[in-house]
Amino acid sequence: MRNFTCVHDLGDLNNALAQAFEIKKDRFRFSELGKNKTLLMVFFNSSLRTRLSTQKAAMNLGMNTIVLDVNQGAWKLETERGVIMDGDKSEHLLEAIPVMGCYCDVIGVRSFARFESKEDDYTEKILNQFIQYSGRPVFSMEAATRHPLQSFADLITIEEYKQKERPKVVMTWAPHPRALPQAVPNSFAEWMNATDYEFVITHPEGYELDPQFVGNARVEYDQRKALEGADFVYAKNWAAYRDPNYGKVINTDRSWTVDTEKMALTNNAYFMHCLPVRRNMIVTDDVIESPRSIVIPEAANREISAQTVLKMILEGL
Ligand code: CP
Repeated sequence: MRNFTCVHDLGDLNNALAQAFEIKKDRFRFSELGKNKTLLMVFFNSSLRTRLSTQKAAMNLGMNTIVLDVNQGAWKLETERGVIMDGDKSEHLLEAIPVMGCYCDVIGVRSFARFESKEDDYTEKILNQFIQYSGRPVFSMEAATRHPLQSFADLITIEEYKQKERPKVVMTWAPHPRALPQAVPNSFAEWMNATDYEFVITHPEGYELDPQFVGNARVEYDQRKALEGADFVYAKNWAAYRDPNYGKVINTDRSWTVDTEKMALTNNAYFMHCLPVRRNMIVTDDVIESPRSIVIPEAANREISAQTVLKMILEGL
C-alpha cells in the first residue's frame, strides 16, 4: 500500500482485519520491519489519541518517529498558491512539504476541514498536496473529509464485541456547542457501508451528510425509532454539510443527547464514541460510565489500526 486515506486503500477488508488481529495477538512480531525507517507525523490540529497511538504503533514496528506541530514552533505556513507573501506567513507549503519528505520515509498528516471553502475541504487540498509533493507514502491522521484510522479502530472494536454476524449499528448525531467537521461520521459511514452490517444514520433535518458517504445506509430522522434494536450506538456531532449552512451549527437540541432512556430502546447496545467527547452534551455521564460503554477499548484499538496501516505501508517501501 502506498497511501492510506480511505477504506478502499486497504484492499480486501477481511484481510486487513485478519492482519489487525494478528498484530493484536503479538504487537512486537514485526519489530524489525521499521528498523532505520522514520515516521514524520505532521499535525495542523490538536490530538491526544492519534498522536500517542500512532507513535506507539510506529515504535512497535521499530520505527523512529518525529512529530511536527505546525502551529507550535514551526514557521507559519501559507497554503494558497499565488499569494503575495507580505503578511505573517514565512514559508509556503509547496517548499515545506518536499523538505519534510527529505527527513523521513513515511508521513502522517492531520489536517481538518477549515470550513472556509467547501471545495477545498472536500477535495482534500492539504492532504493531496502532501501526497503530490512529499515523495513519500502519506497516510491520513484525520483529514478534511475522513478519519480512516479511527474508522478502522471502530470496525476492529465492533468485530470484537459483536454477538451476531450482522449487528445493527446506529450512528446518531448529538449536540455540541461548536462546529465540528464531518470527517468522523463520513468515514464511519464509509467503513460501515463496506461491511454487511445493518447500518442506520439518524440526525435532525439539515444535518444530511454528503451522499457519497451515506451510500445505501438507512437515514432515519426519528432518533428513537432508529435506536430500536440497535446492537451498537455510535454517537457523534457534526456541523451541517449542505449549502448554505456548510460548516455551521444549526441545532443544539439536547433532546438528541444519548442518555439511559435512549439506550433502553436498544438491544442492550454497546456505546461508542471516537473521543474526545463532551459529557452531557453528546452523552450522559451514566451512559459513558456504564458497563456497555466501550469507548476505552475503542481508543485502545487506535494503536492496532495505526500499526496495521503502517505495516502495510512499510511492506510496500
Ligand atoms: N479520536 C481522535 O482522533 O482523537 P484525537 O483527536 O485526540 O487524536
